[in-house]
Amino acid sequence: MGLVTTKKMFEAANNKHYAIGAFNINNMEIIQGIIDACKKENSAVILQVSKSAFKYMRPGYLMGMVKAAAEESGLDIALHLDHGEDFEICKECVDLGFTSVMIDGSHHDYEDNVALTKQVVEYAHAHGVVVEAELGKLAGVEDEVKVDAANATYTDPDQALDFVKRTGVDSLAIAIGTSHGAYKFKGEAKLDFDRLETISKKLEDAGFHNYPIVLHGASSVDPGSVDLCNKYGGQINNAKGIPTDMLRKASSMGVCKINMDTDIRLAMTAAIREFMANKPAEFDPRGYLGKGREYVQALVEGKIKNVIGSSNSMDDLK
Ligand code: G3H
Ligand code: 13P
Ligand code: ZN
Repeated sequence: MGLVTTKKMFEAANNKHYAIGAFNINNMEIIQGIIDACKKENSAVILQVSKSAFKYMRPGYLMGMVKAAAEESGLDIALHLDHGEDFEICKECVDLGFTSVMIDGSHHDYEDNVALTKQVVEYAHAHGVVVEAELGKLAGVEDEVKVDAANATYTDPDQALDFVKRTGVDSLAIAIGTSHGAYKFKGEAKLDFDRLETISKKLEDAGFHNYPIVLHGASSVDPGSVDLCNKYGGQINNAKGIPTDMLRKASSMGVCKINMDTDIRLAMTAAIREFMANKPAEFDPRGYLGKGREYVQALVEGKIKNVIGSSNSMDDLK
């Protein structure tokens, strides 16, 4: 119990073909909503923090809240830096007590990504912290023309193997058609599962047994939350996410960390919009933020039970 690395979580998830949810946190109510859901489902969890969320929450408050979450819930929680852009932010998070960091060198050319990732791995491992890196670039919103452009930045399987060998990185985020945000596909949702299979197989054949693969941009853009936002004055049009059956398929194929931020944002916003519209005379923040916390909890419970399948994963970590 407490703050732990993702090592054992990923081993168990890979063996049993489920995934661990990596949920982005931005404030206390989001943390509590996620943790209350995980507690109810007896699920291990990764709380992840983007650089802008790190600045927004401020390091002292962030660490205090996450430690309180671990103590109060008795759950195994990994605290992860999401999309660290340079060595310095990774080092800062390692020094603060994060249990894993992501160095996202995907915007650099290949050799620079290797060198930067290696530098972070060396520092993090020396401090007992594990590292995620990214190879290939996540696509933006796709139309017929842009799909081709996006294709050019899908993760190359041979490069993935070379990258893992040379950097010693503990997990790898790959690009197979997902993207960040609420507008992932213009037409039909499509992921390159053949590529995922090839990457997993190449790693397995080279001796990296059950190598942890990470899927970013994995929100389903929950239609219930989008409809609620729009019903109460929102303007979220043509939003589309990753269908849940695709996420389940990915978790059965070596993906053991599934990143979700957009769905949490939508749940929180839907709750607040609904509350404000129905109770225009109320102005106690605990009313609408409390409703937001409830909706985040319901969303995360649904993800654990119906999408990632991590219910009772705490038992696998004993
Ligand atoms: O992967 C990116 C996350 O959705 C975080 O976004 O930088 O706005 O916190 P943010
Ligand atoms: P979504 O925008 O699909 O929630 O993805 C979040 C993510 O990948 C954070 O790293
Ligand atoms: Zn991401």
